[in-house]
Order: sequence, then structure tokens, then C-alpha cells
Amino acid sequence: MSAVWHPFFQHGTEPAPPRALSSEGAFIHTDRGPLLDAISSWWVVTHGHNQPEIVEAIRRTAGHLDQVIFAGLTHDPAEELAEALVQLAPAGLEHVFFSDSGSTAVEVALKMALGYWRHEGDGRHRIAVIEDSYHGDTIGTMSVGERGVFNAAYDPLMFAVDRLPFPEGDGAATLAAFEALAAGGQMAALILEPLVLGAGGMRMYAPAVLAGLRAICDRHDVLLIADEVMTGWGRTGRLWACDHAGIAPDILCTSKGLTGGVVPLAATLASARIFEAHRSADRRRTFFHSSSYTANPIACAAALAQVRLWQASPMQDRLHRLTLLQAARLAALAGDSRFAAPRQCGTIAAIDLVVPEGGYLAEVGPRMRAHSMQQGVLLRPLGNTVYVLPPYGVTEADLDMAWGAIASFQV
Ligand SMILES: Cc1ncc(COP(=O)(O)O)c(C=O)c1O
Repeated sequence: MSAVWHPFFQHGTEPAPPRALSSEGAFIHTDRGPLLDAISSWWVVTHGHNQPEIVEAIRRTAGHLDQVIFAGLTHDPAEELAEALVQLAPAGLEHVFFSDSGSTAVEVALKMALGYWRHEGDGRHRIAVIEDSYHGDTIGTMSVGERGVFNAAYDPLMFAVDRLPFPEGDGAATLAAFEALAAGGQMAALILEPLVLGAGGMRMYAPAVLAGLRAICDRHDVLLIADEVMTGWGRTGRLWACDHAGIAPDILCTSKGLTGGVVPLAATLASARIFEAHRSADRRRTFFHSSSYTANPIACAAALAQVRLWQASPMQDRLHRLTLLQAARLAALAGDSRFAAPRQCGTIAAIDLVVPEGGYLAEVGPRMRAHSMQQGVLLRPLGNTVYVLPPYGVTEADLDMAWGAIASFQV
């Protein structure tokens, strides 16, 4: 038996996984043959595996500048990347704090929000969240995420949050619930996944609801944290999901597609008022957060190359093309009684398998995964929800293969 303990993998029931040998474009080549990566390897790959410009940037930087401490030192890759992120981000996000993963980007955001209110001399400390959200697997991010089978064992370690119902339709119930909570006065921040709740089952809500939540934050001076870890870098058809609602959060978290999915890196962007609340002659107001690999120069160079691709190539056209291709394939399953609730937000398309019992542990999930694997397609249903979230360079034939694997499944 291998010494490796795999993530989200039941070693007691699952067969030994294939071994990845190389990756390129939309494919992972394994010891059992090629696999179409229809889920962008947990939503990280944007342009394609081993995108040449990103790999080249890594090559150029490695061997020249490796990890250097980032407390009290700076370097060009981080400076240039921070500048570029501020240019591309929704208005008003002027400061960039680097970390290593989506979870750490969110932990940093929560600490910034609480730190802000403390330094303002305000005792606000409550965090509002949306039901079924996912923000990571550290204790803090689990606390602001949905509770369930994944984290029941750690419940004694988690902190309490205020939960809003998922915004169905016009989101009236969610908006009313948040208005009432925010008016209570203790609310420090609302954290949400804008437009698409990823791990919660690719649940989607309207941009108007996001705009409505922003307006309530404004009325009651509550900080809005947008977790764009999954939705950022074009997944929803725009660079940021927040762009659909024309809003800017006070804090924005990005990771996954930040480096195009080649190496790990994360950034938490904050508005000037949050930064200024920490900038002081009083050293107790320092933002006390770091990780050893903060702003790794090689990862920053990879991210900068990824950002340059956004600036140089017609990304909006590519996203539009993929959005239309996905819509056509989703529409082809309409009226098929094996499937329900087809939904799409930009390049992300999802559908539910009709089974007597849903939920994350639905037996249909592993069965669908094994079926698609046999067809050479990597899918990873969330319970009975199956989704296709491909790298942007995917071809029409590749997409047909992915949707063909879904359509040929005996639910
Ligand atoms: C919205 C969102 N936030 C945070 C995370 C955590 O990211 P990571 O797995 O890189 O820690 C994820 C991961 O799927 C996510 O989808």
C-alpha cells in the first residue's frame, strides 16, 4: 500500500488511483491513459495545463530568485503582481496580501475584518455567511462554511456565525434576513461566494441579490468579503463574479486560477480603509499574519504571466465561446428524466442526477466518477450534482466527450 494519504479520498473503499505522468492543455496523461480534465483539477486550471507562458516565467525565475523572507524584504515579482492585481480588481481594492491557498486567503480576510473593527475601537465581531457555502478546510474557514459530514468531528473547535438562507429567486428572504441581522449592530462582515456556491453543489444566484447584499452592507457599515477563489479569473464569464453585479467588495480573496493552476499562490486584496486601520505608529496594530512561503517569487512570476495573458489575449471572446458551447450541451439534456435543475454561470455548467437520495454521500457520485473515468473523462460529482468546469482552451470535441460521459450514464 502507498504511504500517501489522499485528500477527500476513502482509502477503505476506493481503488488505487491512476498515476499522473504529465499534463498538457485540457488533458492529464496517466499510467492508464489520457484523462480529459473536465473539472480543471479542482477548478485551478484556467488557460490549460502547463500553459507555455506561465511555465516559461517559472523557468526564468527559478535558479535566479527562489524563496526569500517577505517580512522586511520585497522583490519585483511580488511588486509587479500586486500592481497588476490592483489594476484588474474591482475599484477600491488597493492593497494586496499574499498567502498560499484559498483557505489561507480567506483566513487572512477574516483576520483583516476583525482587526479593522478592533483598531477602529468598535466591538463588532459577528460574521454572516450564506448557507451551503464553502470557504476551505482550516478551522476558521470551516467555521464560516456549511456544517455537515465533512466537519462534524471538528465542531467543538469552530466558532459561531450567523447564517443566511441561500438566495432563491429574487433573494428576498436572504436580503430580509441580512437586513435584520445587520441592523442589530454587531455585524463585522459578510463573507460570500459571489454568484456560485461551488462545493455546496454549484448553486447559483442572481447578480441583483449580490448587489442587494452590498447595499445592505453599505447601509449598516458591514464589510463585504468576496471569496472569488473559485469564481475568479473568468469562470463566470467575467474576470470576477462581482463584475456581473457591478459591485466592489471591501476584501477579495483569490487563489486557484491566480497562477493559471500551475503552482500554488493566493492573494487577499483590501480597501484603503482596512489597510489604514492597521498602519500606525502603534506596533500592536501590525497585521500579525504570515506563512513561510508568503509571496514566493516563482509563484508570483507564474501569476504575473497568467495576468499578462488576461491583458494581452482576447479572453472575453474565449470565455464567451466556451459559455455558448456549454449552454448548447446542457440544453441537449433538457427533457431527459434522468437529469434535473440544469444551470449555468458563464463557463460553469451543472445538472443534478435524479436519485432517491441526494446529499454529499449519495452513492451515485462515486458511480458516476468511475463511469466517466472509464470513458477517459475526469469528473467529480458533488453528491448527485455533476458539473463540467473545463480549462478555457478545451475543444468542442473535448466537451462532447465530457458531456457524452454524462449522457451515457445509467442513473
Ligand atoms: C470558494 C472557495 N474558497 C476557498 C477554497 C479553499 O481553497 P484551497 O483548497 O486552495 O484552500 C475553495 C476550494 O475549493 C473554494 O472553492
